[in-house]
Amino acid sequence: MNAPRKLHIKSYGCQMNVYDAQRMVDTLTHENFVETANAADADLVILNTCHIREKASEKVYSELGRLREAKDDAARAGRDMKIVVAGCVAQAEGAEIVRRAPVVDVVVGPQSYHHLPELLRRARRDGRAIETEFPVVDKFSSLAPPQPAAIRARGVTSFVTVQEGCDKFCTFCVVPYTRGAEVSRSVVKIADDVRRLADNGVREITLIGQNVNAFHGTGPDGKPWPLGKLLHHLAGIEGIARLRYSTSHPCDVDDSLIAAHRDLPALMPYLHLPVQSGSDHILAAMNRKHTIAEYHRIIEKFRAARSDMAFSSDFIVGFPSETDDDFAATLALVAEIGYASAYSFKYSPRPGTPAADMQGMVDAATMDQRLAQLQELIDSRQAAFNVGCIGKTFDVLFEQTGRRAGQIVGRSAYLQPVHVMASSDIIGRVLPVTLTGLERYSFFGDLSAEPARTGSSRHNHASLTTTTGA
Ligand code: SAH
Ligand code: SF4
Ligand code: F3S
Repeated sequence: MNAPRKLHIKSYGCQMNVYDAQRMVDTLTHENFVETANAADADLVILNTCHIREKASEKVYSELGRLREAKDDAARAGRDMKIVVAGCVAQAEGAEIVRRAPVVDVVVGPQSYHHLPELLRRARRDGRAIETEFPVVDKFSSLAPPQPAAIRARGVTSFVTVQEGCDKFCTFCVVPYTRGAEVSRSVVKIADDVRRLADNGVREITLIGQNVNAFHGTGPDGKPWPLGKLLHHLAGIEGIARLRYSTSHPCDVDDSLIAAHRDLPALMPYLHLPVQSGSDHILAAMNRKHTIAEYHRIIEKFRAARSDMAFSSDFIVGFPSETDDDFAATLALVAEIGYASAYSFKYSPRPGTPAADMQGMVDAATMDQRLAQLQELIDSRQAAFNVGCIGKTFDVLFEQTGRRAGQIVGRSAYLQPVHVMASSDIIGRVLPVTLTGLERYSFFGDLSAEPARTGSSRHNHASLTTTTGA
């Protein structure tokens, strides 16, 4: 057999891209590729791109500029380096990428990754290959599953895609165009993936989808199953200690999901439920399809099902026509919900989306000022949430060794990093930890003899007073 060729893959954007990158690696393993961390010695470089904001998609072209030099250096050393652009910029821009950056050999959209080996062969034969179709077959049926050694090397937590694409058409967003219509995978295939991961040491699964709670995959009974029912099913798989899902849309929260939070100790009481704005007028212009009053009612349902629930969100500031009053409503919402964490972005007009043609663009200085003010409020809320956790005993899933000798790092139910001094035997175990200290966003703690009361996969109904008082 020939010496293995080296593959370097770099992902931008969301968790879906991280997951897709692993599946591309798994598929190319069968083509005799091994991963390398260094782009300069790679025979194949894949940029797995994101188109969500202008800054994200422009990054690709600066990276391609650097890669052109690396490719020239390789050629001088007698080596052929192939460059692939995958992901959402590939889907949105297609052949335009090759016009702007002729160094690119293959352009492949997110629904065609199972054709990568063939596209690479085509590029070698014809000099170039471009594929941005939305095929009808599920790409995951044809992408190779990970080998046991690869699963073990990736650690005790894993993503699993259950749904892809989006039918919501928020007026600012490119995802419905880059990822296509909503498609759910079958329950049997998802359960097979989760079992394979659990058999190889994975303890925590995050089900991912652009709009994950719109999941309606076919169950073993031939009927469409909602996400809540899928979670019930997966919670029964041996070895799975924790379940999460991301990202949800408020309009697709149904009773099955609320019931899952009430009934499944393994389902973590932490939910990313983006709202984007606190103003009904802006929500309508964004086509988010719900009001702030409805959002509050949804949050209340989760809290009634499990009192230690905490929430995170995404916000956009400076959406066209956003007034000072609209922005004040966003600040009021953040203060009222008391998010444990949140991301905020300046509105970025995206080609082909309805909002890009709307009147009332907010000027750059106002956007900057609003973003700074919102981020300051979010940070102070996050700090208050974290300080409120000190002294409490939380269940922690230990993931890896820390930077300091003897230190092991894990995560709480709320994804807070927690450091303890312990033997590496605890990696992969969920153990109660009393939180004793906090440095920026990282906690320190001691393994506890007492079981955890909050965010625990054993004790379901303890209250997290830090969020309810916010
Ligand atoms: N499916 C997820 C979000 C995907 S994009 C959802 O529905 O929430 C992640 C986040 O990027 C969005 O929640 C939004 O806050 C932000 N975003 C999307 N398009 C944007 C744009 N044009 N400008 C600024 N932020 C944007
Ligand atoms: Fe984009 Fe809206 Fe779909 Fe989220 S729900 S992916 S923001 S269109
Ligand atoms: Fe970006 Fe595409 Fe994900 S645009 S956020 S990589 S779905």
